[in-house]
Amino acid sequence: MAPYWTDHWGNPSSRQHRQGLTASAAVALARRQIAEALDIDPDRLIFTSGATEANNLALLGHARTRGCGHLISVNTEHHAVLDPLAQLQREGFQVSLLQAQSNGLITPTQLEEAIRPDTRLVSVMAANNEIGVLQPLKELAEICRNRGVVFHSDAAQAFGHIPLEPDNLGLDLVSLSAHKLYGPKGIGALVIREGVQLQPLQWGGGQEAGLRAGTLPSPLIVGFAAAVQEAMADRDERHTRLGGLRDQLWNGLNDQLPAVERNGAAAPCLAHNLNITLPGMSGSRLHRSLRPHLACSSGSACSNGAPSHVLLAIGRSRADAEASLRLSLGRSTTANAVEQAIASIVEAVDAQQT
Ligand SMILES: Cc1ncc(COP(=O)(O)O)c(C=O)c1O
Repeated sequence: MAPYWTDHWGNPSSRQHRQGLTASAAVALARRQIAEALDIDPDRLIFTSGATEANNLALLGHARTRGCGHLISVNTEHHAVLDPLAQLQREGFQVSLLQAQSNGLITPTQLEEAIRPDTRLVSVMAANNEIGVLQPLKELAEICRNRGVVFHSDAAQAFGHIPLEPDNLGLDLVSLSAHKLYGPKGIGALVIREGVQLQPLQWGGGQEAGLRAGTLPSPLIVGFAAAVQEAMADRDERHTRLGGLRDQLWNGLNDQLPAVERNGAAAPCLAHNLNITLPGMSGSRLHRSLRPHLACSSGSACSNGAPSHVLLAIGRSRADAEASLRLSLGRSTTANAVEQAIASIVEAVDAQQT
């Protein structure tokens, strides 16, 4: 990214001078690299500021082309989906939220039963950001296709971690975020299937096929593509390695803390996620005593300290949701770090019991 902040500072839309052309070529290459990882045509990628904006563009942008009607999603979605849907509700759309089962998953039958003749769009995330479960996208997409309904997926947590090919899965709109795969914050993309109608959310210089006006941030786009390339290079190996470490973490906690419970289905699930509840513990004390040792949370970074709506949605009480830990592993996580995490959590629990 560094040269694009300094030496190659041109605006990628300024094609009349060398600085602009250099930036433009870098953006074009990055677009091709990201598209290749998704096995799509580069023209189908619209750069946005992240998955939040991509979700807004997908949901508001498509629904508004239809004027009115019915929209379907799930009660465990990220707020970046739930809140645009709430806005559409204020604009006159009807919204149904499917109730996730206690394992965090929805079934194709649930979707089938919820679709109505006036259903315009369905949005179901690929991987849950708190409990890691992977929704059955291919089956859900097929139902939508058969019923002529546009299918969107917020794949912010999935891209770079598990195989994600929009056409293979049958997805019409897919939201991506660079910082979920070690890329820079402030850049993401919406993948659009040809023929899906979208209205822009903002108007201006006509960038990104008129769907997302605004000067493209070439350093962030270059960084996004570099992160994607690195993620694709070690994705499968990382998945296997982190799955092993996550099992080590769960088994270690389970051995020493008989009351511990796991949130969300153990499979299908992201390999680097473990979400646990320690029933009866004070959530605030637990988090306070873990803070010096572990960077963990009870819910999403966007929840402003409220108990996790995902854990509440899958049937946890407020107290249990607060006494929960969302633990994530990553490229730099080692077996030694996992043992330290287990020891810290056990110590924090013991401290409350004595
Ligand atoms: C599932 C999901 N969707 C959307 C977002 C928001 O992404 P961004 O920060 O790129 O706007 C996040 C991350 O916080 C997420 O986990």
